[in-house]
Amino acid sequence: MPTTRVIIDTDPGIDDALALILAFASPEVSVEAITTVAGNVSVSQATRNVCLLLDVVDSHPRPPVAKGAARPLTRPLRTAQRYHGEDGLGELFRFKTEAGESRYPDPRQHLAPQPAPALIIEQISAAPGEIVLICIGPLTNLATAIQTAPAEMAKVKEIVIMGGAIQAPGNVTPVAEFNMHTDPEAAGLVFASGLPITLVPLDVTQRVLLTAELIDALVRHVGGRVTQFVHDATERLFRIEQDRTGRAATPLHDPLAIGAVIDPSLVTRRPFYVQVETGAGPAQGMTIADRRQMLEKEKQPPNLQVCMEVDAGRFVAIFLERICRPLT
Ligand code: BDR
Ligand code: CA
Repeated sequence: MPTTRVIIDTDPGIDDALALILAFASPEVSVEAITTVAGNVSVSQATRNVCLLLDVVDSHPRPPVAKGAARPLTRPLRTAQRYHGEDGLGELFRFKTEAGESRYPDPRQHLAPQPAPALIIEQISAAPGEIVLICIGPLTNLATAIQTAPAEMAKVKEIVIMGGAIQAPGNVTPVAEFNMHTDPEAAGLVFASGLPITLVPLDVTQRVLLTAELIDALVRHVGGRVTQFVHDATERLFRIEQDRTGRAATPLHDPLAIGAVIDPSLVTRRPFYVQVETGAGPAQGMTIADRRQMLEKEKQPPNLQVCMEVDAGRFVAIFLERICRPLT
């Protein structure tokens, strides 16, 4: 089976952590590097969380981790800690061992010497046409890499981005998805880059749901370190969702971006010309796709492949099978 070499740019974030676990448990991809960006939490916390996750999955070899942007290109950072918890991982500090010690001790933080955009540029230019960059946070690092070294970045095989809301409503405002809303200038720059981009928007990610029942069953019947982590990281989130929506279930936003690389047939892509609203008004971060029924020559050529359909049942089954199989 051919293995796709990937770099994951991330802001963990509970669903980011689930995406990383899925990637490490999937033989179809090899994680060459992880880069961090401010988004759900500060970049320092995101970097700590990646290192903690690497301890949990105990991956060998350990990919390099590079710290990235501390704030969006032009705006102040607004984190999502109300949703992801103070630590971004569902407040793991609540969990103790039987001996009363922290179940999740401080991780070792051996970081790459270069900042995230430099590591992304280096790895892509060293393997022309081979690396898929999966971005599951705000696009600040990617925009900086493109601005710094456009010719090197043109050697990327594909960029897969979790973000945007095409026909679906937003999740941070009525029209905007969190990653786009956090750094719309970066998203605009990336979308205008001419690079081969697949967008995985809320239209598909909100259809792939992880439920508390599924995780409780895994903990009871499978057990193991990774399953316990998934349980602990999602437990607070399920309570929030239960209060908010009446259902203890959460969308697997970021894991689906990994899924689109593991098995491209899980999603159906459609080409669209997509722009991002950068104004500071109520449409900030809105992704506007030209879906008009017109001859192609009358419109801007498509700049993105957008995932508009997903085989949700098959993806959730793959996700569950992977998180409890090889790493427990
Ligand atoms: C995206 O926003 C973040 O909170 C999640 O980690 C995901 O990347 C979903 O809108
Ligand atoms: Ca994320």
